[in-house]
Amino acid sequence: MNIRIFGVVPVAAALSFSLGGAAALADEGDPSRGEELSRPCAACHGADGNSPIPTMYPSIAGVDAEVLEQMLKDFRDGEREEPQMSPQAANLSDQDIRDLAAYFAAQEPE
Ligand code: HEC
Repeated sequence: MNIRIFGVVPVAAALSFSLGGAAALADEGDPSRGEELSRPCAACHGADGNSPIPTMYPSIAGVDAEVLEQMLKDFRDGEREEPQMSPQAANLSDQDIRDLAAYFAAQEPE
């Protein structure tokens, strides 16, 4: 038993360490595709995610990509509902969400 555990854990750790860069790349969104997808978002959140009316539409420029991903999934999956925002996320795929998150995360907050 213990032998097995000792055998597997270090290998897994070593793998995730050495493949960390590649794995991160595969999981990361493509910001240029995200920019394409972000056109409809601009109407409310501003082209670069700096909202023209932050009291109504939150600024999303420079927000951590993982946080953005989670927020978009929450809207898409109905965990969070808002009449203007929910329909925007309704038809996004996981990849769309990753790409959008990568794009907005890379923008400079004002
Ligand atoms: C019609 C206006 C509108 C459009 C278009 C729109 N949003 Fe939103 N968005 C909102 C509103 C309003 C909120 C705030 C919702 C709330 O208060 O829960 C919001 C919230 C968000 C949030 C959460 C921000 C936070 O800090 O809580 C994210 C992320 C987001 N929108 C991303 C997007 C993306 C990506 C797109 C394009 C696919 C998009 N939105 C298009 C109106 C819009």
